[in-house]
Amino acid sequence: MSNFLLQLSYLIGSITFIVGLKQLSSPDSARKGNLVAAFGMVLAIIGTILFHEHDGNKIGNIPWILGAMALGTVVGWMMAMKVKMTAMPQMVSFFNGMGGACAAIISIVEFNSHPDGAPGYLLVVFLGLIIGTVSFSGSIIAYGKLDDKIKDISSKALTYFNLLLLLAIFVVLGIAVASPEVFGHDVVWLLLGLSAAYGVLFVMPIGGADMPVVISLLNSFTGMAAAFGGFLYNNPVMLTGGILVGSAGTILTVLMCNAMNRSLLNVIIGSFGGGGASGKGADGEQVVKEISVTDTAILCAYAGKVTIVPGYGLAVAQAQHICHDLEKKLEDKGVEVSFAIHPVAGRMPGHMNVLLAEADVPYPKLVEMEDANPGMSSTDVVIVVGANDVVNPAAENDPSSPIYGMPVLKVWEAKNVIVMKRSMRAGYAGIENELFFHPKTKMLFGDAKDTLGKLVAEIKEL
Ligand code: TAP
Repeated sequence: MSNFLLQLSYLIGSITFIVGLKQLSSPDSARKGNLVAAFGMVLAIIGTILFHEHDGNKIGNIPWILGAMALGTVVGWMMAMKVKMTAMPQMVSFFNGMGGACAAIISIVEFNSHPDGAPGYLLVVFLGLIIGTVSFSGSIIAYGKLDDKIKDISSKALTYFNLLLLLAIFVVLGIAVASPEVFGHDVVWLLLGLSAAYGVLFVMPIGGADMPVVISLLNSFTGMAAAFGGFLYNNPVMLTGGILVGSAGTILTVLMCNAMNRSLLNVIIGSFGGGGASGKGADGEQVVKEISVTDTAILCAYAGKVTIVPGYGLAVAQAQHICHDLEKKLEDKGVEVSFAIHPVAGRMPGHMNVLLAEADVPYPKLVEMEDANPGMSSTDVVIVVGANDVVNPAAENDPSSPIYGMPVLKVWEAKNVIVMKRSMRAGYAGIENELFFHPKTKMLFGDAKDTLGKLVAEIKEL
């Protein structure tokens, strides 16, 4: 009976992970999906504690287990409640690192219990250890970089050293599986040290701004490491969870690379997005035209169709609520308003959708890039709020640009473009944006939240 209930809890847990993941794919159902998957996880944990048996013995150390769970819950809850939307990638990275560490610890414990296991068994144990450790140390470095605590260090020598390190890991792994007596019991610490060093040094040279892609990649590593754990324990729910995380992380990594038109290798060794403006720049003859808040208010209030393009700056300024106010005020004046969403606007997948949903912008108002672009030429005013790279024409017309080939929102096809940002500084890719010098473009400088607040107030007066 115990085993039946245990397997039932695992089956329900596995189903909730799949259903939850499916629900996460739409902003409407994402919150519910998270809760459904969390419920499945709780059920699987309770099932394990109550019904799991090994050689006729039930699980012991219950106070320790419950104490650790309580501590983890409190810390996780506090971190999640405190985190700012713009710091979400850091938190994901940190949590992902913890997942990798758990997978590595499982492998160490398993190896200690069965050091004389069959080669196939040892291979799974060591792979879990290597991948989990790389994910842990790499994620912690990624966290430090995103939080501006760690700077990029890149050199050709480091790239070669990393390749050597990777080779050394594979050689030790091969020997440890084929002839366990060579390294004996210490192999576990050797692999741990090599993998931890590789995780640190592999993430070190990657451009700080490329971290979201790296985090997604490390996330898929953690999933794989957890799946190895599930395989070791013959635990279906751990296996399903690990495979889902591993494959979702891999798909997300590929999607992000495609949306930026870059290969994964280019992300890993390209050192892209380190900061400062570079690339094809203004030649001094180009003129930037500014516009006042009052003129912007008049232009928008008497337009037929306005499209708002949100970007990373909207998240930084936390301007999503005031953006929704702008949309409502313009609609009150009979203007048709929509939001054009670029797939990699902001710094994480779905960043703009999440922000605007938080501000109660109706979901049908969010138009994906492929659907927004054909309507640009019939748009009277495009308001770009804190976006830069995702509206850069160089992606279409400058083959020397690092973002050439990346699909972008063709805002310059609209009749008027207003760009809201604080300065002429570059965005994520660190390159100049020709859009700011385009004959149809006018710059409205200032913090997005402040400027939008003033704009809404002006429109109210009209
Ligand atoms: P960015 O190109 O990063 O530009 C954001 C702009 O916002 C900056 O130029 C900045 O200019 C402005 N800004 C910052 N704070 C502001 C504030 N308080 N008020 C007003 N403006 C502010 O953003 P984007 O167009 O959204 O493009 C996203 C970039 O991130 C792409 O290159 C994409 O490839 C990359 N990326 C995205 C993801 C995902 S999954 N979303 C993952 C990895 C990389 P000022 O400093 O002059 O204000």
